[in-house]
Formats: sequence, structure tokens, C-alpha cells
Amino acid sequence: MPLAKALQLRKMAEIARGKRQKFVDFPAPHPKQSLALKSKAEVLLFGGGAGPGKTTWLLWDAAKHIDSHLYSAVILRRTYPEICNEGGLWDESQRWYPLKGATAHQTRLEWTFPSGATIRFSHLQHEKNVNNWQGAQLPYVGFDEVTHFTKKQFFYLLSRLRSPHGFEPKMRATCNPDADSWVAELVNWWIGEDGYADPQKAGEIRFFIVVDDIIIWGDTKQELQIKYPGCLPKSFTFIGATVEDNPTLLKADPGYLANLQAQNSVDRDRLLYGNWHVKKAESMLFDVEAVDACAIGNYSSPIHGRRYLWGIDPNYGGDDYFTAQAWDISTVPYTLAYEYHKNKTPVSTSIRALIPFIRRYPPLIIGVEINSGGKVIAENLAEKMPDIRIQGILSTKSSKIINTDRLKLFVEENAINYPKNWEGIEEFKKFSKDDRRAVSGHDDTVMAAASAFACLDLVHTRDPITPSVGVQFAHPTF
Ligand SMILES: Nc1ncnc2c1ncn2[C@@H]1O[C@H](COP(=O)(O)OP(=O)(O)O)[C@@H](O)[C@H]1O
Ligand SMILES: [Mg+2]
Repeated sequence: MPLAKALQLRKMAEIARGKRQKFVDFPAPHPKQSLALKSKAEVLLFGGGAGPGKTTWLLWDAAKHIDSHLYSAVILRRTYPEICNEGGLWDESQRWYPLKGATAHQTRLEWTFPSGATIRFSHLQHEKNVNNWQGAQLPYVGFDEVTHFTKKQFFYLLSRLRSPHGFEPKMRATCNPDADSWVAELVNWWIGEDGYADPQKAGEIRFFIVVDDIIIWGDTKQELQIKYPGCLPKSFTFIGATVEDNPTLLKADPGYLANLQAQNSVDRDRLLYGNWHVKKAESMLFDVEAVDACAIGNYSSPIHGRRYLWGIDPNYGGDDYFTAQAWDISTVPYTLAYEYHKNKTPVSTSIRALIPFIRRYPPLIIGVEINSGGKVIAENLAEKMPDIRIQGILSTKSSKIINTDRLKLFVEENAINYPKNWEGIEEFKKFSKDDRRAVSGHDDTVMAAASAFACLDLVHTRDPITPSVGVQFAHPTF
């Protein structure tokens, strides 16, 4: 009898006699989980949305070397109750670790595997408690929901990562995106300009060192070692995933997706799509419900005798949009009657296309946002339409605050209307109170509207509005 066959028969006989436990494999990992399981990076962060299977992956990853009695892993959450909550680490671990013959020790939140290897869960609520780990030599540290921890806790434990028994030391972490967290800075290179994880960079390894609390990056270890002789760079990677990467969950619980879709736009963007740039709701300028409540208008054909106010946010080529809006301000609520919104088009083409519409919806005034390039565009419009008053609207931080605050007032008073499917609605919701620009994506529709509304007090004076000879640049007072 061949040796392999003999061994197999012996194994089966042992299982039958109960001498050997029959271990069952974990289910097949989904592709993103698989990428993260195979990564050679010393430090890896798997995150980007709710439900892709991050916690599950962490539990499986920590269990890689359980066949060795020398192996031990620790997985952390910020607080103790979070470990034991329904669906938390302890709960989930009960689904998986018994498959490997592990015994649970609930009081110390630890699993012992037949080899003697252990995986335990611990919490690290207070920053000062990091010192409890002084002297620890940890081959595997996992953080579930790492954005809940402080930067100091994370880097302290990284300094405790050792491998006395020849296991590659590994630090692994999961999290949802949080633009306000120190983790956002850590993963920044892996995130596209739009705030979503760049799929091309998923799993790509870079190196870092920490000098005086500052993280310094290099594409290679050598690059850092040349610049900082004697330093010990760590390899790091990030893998972004969303619920779309977990077909098991989508199939088993379609309500999960519906739930994420029902979140407010900021949380939906973070948790469903994995956006690292959108900030929590309180830092947004516009009230989300008020923005939705104004979405009841319709674009309309020009009507003789109506008063139109135009706002333009010009583009400077590329992905940026050239946005021009005609607002019907004959009666309150003021209504968005027409919009020109185009990118990847030369400015001159946009202006040529736009002029017939400006003629159809004759403006009282056109407010044009001006920064370096906008001024030339405003002058160009004034030249082409000398009979129309063109008002240059400054886009310094303080003038932006005045102009967008005025727009906010109209939105909150329900004094403007726009169509339900207007792209401006999402832009309004992502417009940051602090920076006065979109936290992700574009904000040209907001800026075009703000430029129009900045001209209101000029329209409301009793003085006749005279066409500009050239562009008027005085900032309208508010
Ligand atoms: N590869 C997989 N095969 C089967 N079920 C999975 C897999 N990955 C995750 N799951 C299940 O999907 C659900 C969500 O996973 P979880 O790890 O809790 O997600 P997250 O931590 O990203 O929110 C859980 O019920 C988990 O058991
Ligand atoms: Mg989780």
C-alpha cells in the first residue's frame, strides 16, 4: 500500500476513534479577503465600508499559524463591551474557531487550539494603558475598528511587535472610513482624489518610518535607509473593500444593503461606498433634509417677462465642470430654470454654446466666480454681450463664506427650488462648512448658485442695473 494512502487510512481511523479531531476549513475567502490574507506586508489595513467581511478576515488571518504551540495572537477592540457585543469579535469567533478544534475560555476571552496556540481578545480603552503591554513580545496584533484607537496606541503596539519563534511579525487592522481620523492620513496614498480606494493600488506595499510623530514614506526600504541611516522601515499596505465584495452577505441579508442605502448621504458615502473624504454630518454647511425639501422644482422654458439671475462657475479644462445656471427670481421660491453643466470641453466652446441660452433666459445680472482664470472668462463674456451686466464674484475664503451662507439661508427657508435629479443636490450635501468646498467630488453647482445669489442685492436696489462696461468687480455687500 502506498505510504500516503496508509497515512490517510490511519488518520481516518484516529478520527473514528476520537483520537484526532477533524478540522474543517474556513469557508473560501472572497477575493479582497484573499488578497489581504496573502499579503506579505508587516502592517496591513483592510477597510473601506461596512460589511465586506473585515472582522471575519481578521479572525481567519490571526489563525494562520495555530498549528504551532508557540504561536499566540492578540486582537484588540477599544472597549470590552464591543468585544462581547452581538456580532462582535467573540460572537464571530465562535462561528469559526471551533471548526479548528479550539476551546473557548470566556472569562479571559481566549481560544486555545489543539496545538496549544492561543488567540485572545483584549481591549485598550485608555491611552495610558498602553504601558500594560510594555515588555510584551507579540507576533500578531490585530485591531478591529482601528479608527477607534489613538495613533499613539497603534504605534506603541507596533513597537511591541516581535517574533521570538520565527513567525513573521504581523499587525493587521480593520476599519470603516473616517475622514477625521489619523488613519485617513495613514492610508492617503491608497485613496484616489475622489475619496474612494484606488483599485490599482490595493495591496501595493510601501514603507514608512516614524520620526518625531511624523510618518515618513518611501517606495522602498532602501530609499528610507539612505535618507535615515540605521532606521528600520515597516512595510505597509491598504486594501479597500465594500459590501459589494461580500456576496455571501448580500445574498443572505439583502436588508443590509437597503439599510446602508437608507443612511444620510455622508454615511452612505462612507459606509456603503467607502469614501475617505466625506466628513461627518456636523461639518457640512447645508442641512441635508432642507436640501431634499427644496428638490421639488422643474427646469422651465423661458417665459416672457420673468426675471432671471445667472450664476457661472467656469472651468479651466479637464474634469472640472463649466456650470452656468439661470434662476427665475420673479417669485419666491426662486427656481432653477436652466443649467449648462459640462466638463472635458474647452472653455471657448462652452461660452459659444451658452450664449444663445443666456439670450433666451435674459439675465438681470450674471455673477461669475472669478479667481485667476475666471476673470478672463468674465471679461470675455462682457465683450461678447456688452448689453449685459457681468458681476465678478470673488472666491476668497471670506467671500465664499458670505456667498455660500446666503445660499444656505435660502435652502433652509425653502426659498429656492431645483429639480429632483439635479446633481447640485449631492454637491450641497457634501459641501464642507470648514473648507467651503466639496469634501469629495465637485462643488461647481454650489459655487455657480452662490455666485448668482451673491448678486441679489444689486438686483433688489432701486437703481437701474446698467450693463457693465467690462466686468464689475466690486464685491456686493451682504
Ligand atoms: N468569505 C466569507 N464566506 C462566508 N461568509 C462570510 C465571508 N466573509 C464574511 N462573511 C460573513 O459576512 C458577514 C459580515 O462580515 P463581517 O466580517 O462582520 O463584516 P465587516 O466586519 O466588514 O462589517 C458575517 O456574517 C460573516 O460571517
Ligand atoms: Mg466588523
